[in-house]
Amino acid sequence: MAIEVRTRTMRTTPLRSPLQLSQRSRVSIAPALLLSGALLGIFGCGDSQDPAGATELYQKIQADDYRSWQRAPGYETRRKSDAPHSDNVDIYVNDVVAQALASGESLSAWPEGSVIVKDGSDGGKFEVVAVMEKRSDGWYWAEYFDGKSEAKFSGRPDVCLDCHKRGSDFVQSFSFPTPQ
Ligand code: HEC
Repeated sequence: MAIEVRTRTMRTTPLRSPLQLSQRSRVSIAPALLLSGALLGIFGCGDSQDPAGATELYQKIQADDYRSWQRAPGYETRRKSDAPHSDNVDIYVNDVVAQALASGESLSAWPEGSVIVKDGSDGGKFEVVAVMEKRSDGWYWAEYFDGKSEAKFSGRPDVCLDCHKRGSDFVQSFSFPTPQ
């Protein structure tokens, strides 16, 4: 698509240099591509880089009864969400995150062993379970749909990282504790 646009523009405006043209078309096309990439990632075919590991993680959080965990700060009840996951979300944090939050220590990263689970629902039925687990080599990501233990996304999908990199060590819904 990018190449087509560029050649057409070059033909109709021969006075501009090819460098200027390619910069112009890249700038205007980039947001559209990014947006469709994000939507495709969430609703499309998925990106499961570690199917077996992701199923194991799903079974682990179910066995741990994650819905009985502490709720994330600011998410004491179900909340509306603008994120692409779904309309309403419940966010739960495991003990490691809960302790880090309660410690009031100044942090620049969430500790290894942190797990955060987000249930996303539309119209009351649970449709998306999104998980982040902090491992020794960084966050592991997974997203499951319609109660299935097979992930549609797992490992380090670009779609998760690209949007979450703006968070506090990739966490978007809450920040590091304020030092006391
Ligand atoms: C376009 C942006 C975007 C993309 C893409 C995205 N997320 Fe999120 N995610 C958010 C936002 C915003 C929140 C904050 C809660 C809310 O409003 O739903 C969030 C919250 C979460 C949470 C709760 C912890 C936190 O960071 O607040 C998890 C877990 C999560 N996302 C997992 C994932 C996974 C796994 C993927 C990839 C399959 C993904 N997200 C892709 C925007 C995104």
